[in-house]
Amino acid sequence: MTSPSLADTHLWPITATPHPSPTTPERRAEILANPGFGQHYTDHMVRATWTADEGWHGAELVPYQPLTFDPATNFLHYGQAIFEGMKAYRHADGSIWLYRPLKNATRFNNSARRLAMAEVPEELFIGSIAALVSADRDWVPSGGETSLYLRPFMLGTEVGLGVRPSNTYTYLLIASPAGAYFSKGIHPVTVWLSDDYVRAAPGGTGEAKCAGNYAASLIAQAEAAQHGCDQVVWLDAAEHRWIEEMGGMNLYFVYGTGDQARLMTPSLTGALLPGVTRDSLLTVAQDLGIKAEEGRISVEEWKAGCASGEITEVFACGTAAVVTPVGEVKSRMGNWTVGNGGAGEVTMRLRQALLDIQTGAVPDRHAWMHKIIDA
Ligand code: COI
Repeated sequence: MTSPSLADTHLWPITATPHPSPTTPERRAEILANPGFGQHYTDHMVRATWTADEGWHGAELVPYQPLTFDPATNFLHYGQAIFEGMKAYRHADGSIWLYRPLKNATRFNNSARRLAMAEVPEELFIGSIAALVSADRDWVPSGGETSLYLRPFMLGTEVGLGVRPSNTYTYLLIASPAGAYFSKGIHPVTVWLSDDYVRAAPGGTGEAKCAGNYAASLIAQAEAAQHGCDQVVWLDAAEHRWIEEMGGMNLYFVYGTGDQARLMTPSLTGALLPGVTRDSLLTVAQDLGIKAEEGRISVEEWKAGCASGEITEVFACGTAAVVTPVGEVKSRMGNWTVGNGGAGEVTMRLRQALLDIQTGAVPDRHAWMHKIIDA
């Protein structure tokens, strides 16, 4: 299948003011040699404004800079703040590609609707990415699992302490060169099953990528750390029994081994974030001949499945960390090991198959990759 090019898409006009003193090539090379995750930012950013009278206007690429807000600005108090996370990849020939950007555009607007915010036209969302990646193309690393992590976000910017949807919004896009998300690399994580806190309840904001969901997760993440765990696993709000997500990532369970291996990921009940990586892996698994379905699993089933050997592997997936094995589980119901506690064979096959598509090592059969900069 030929991948559609975003050059064919109508892009929102964005005026550009180049940085007067961009990062030197030497300093940039130093950063790109070991970018980490979310620690360095490129030379530019994009911003645009929405008002009820004018709609979206003033879209511009400007030097990366601090933002200034009145202390009574809406999002600082009532949290009208949403974001997305996506990556641009440099392929071997030097061209730069986005992975399923329209999925992020759609989810951004789903989040906007849930938080009663203005929606961002696809042309502006994609246009902002095209403008920033084009201006900062030298910041897209090459090789290994590196990428340019793109962070579109939107804030309610009306000044006033009345609790209501803001009547003005600022859309922003920044970019950060990325290596591995977890500093230990592909090392199985130990998870803590949280029964003191829930991430999301039916009718809540679990499906939205809003700042408040992440703020509310931090205490449980701290509790996980107190129990010697790397990450928290969320259970459903009603029964504290059904597995939902891990930290900010979706989960997959592997049953059986070899030809008999099959995958299950918790269904999107409205309380889970509909991950782009989660969705992709349902298809990638089928490409590899592995049956994959959505379903549900309780804490008891997870524990018993590991004890009987029926559950052989568990992994988490997301844009930032791609696929991360889960090795150990700790909870008030006891502790157990998944498989042999290491990175499983199915987990690593899926991880590699997805990365191969994203980095251009194999043909893109699903038209997921969109070329944004030619070689
Ligand atoms: C992702 O991996 O998709 C995330 O959302 C993680 C991010 C919040 C750092």
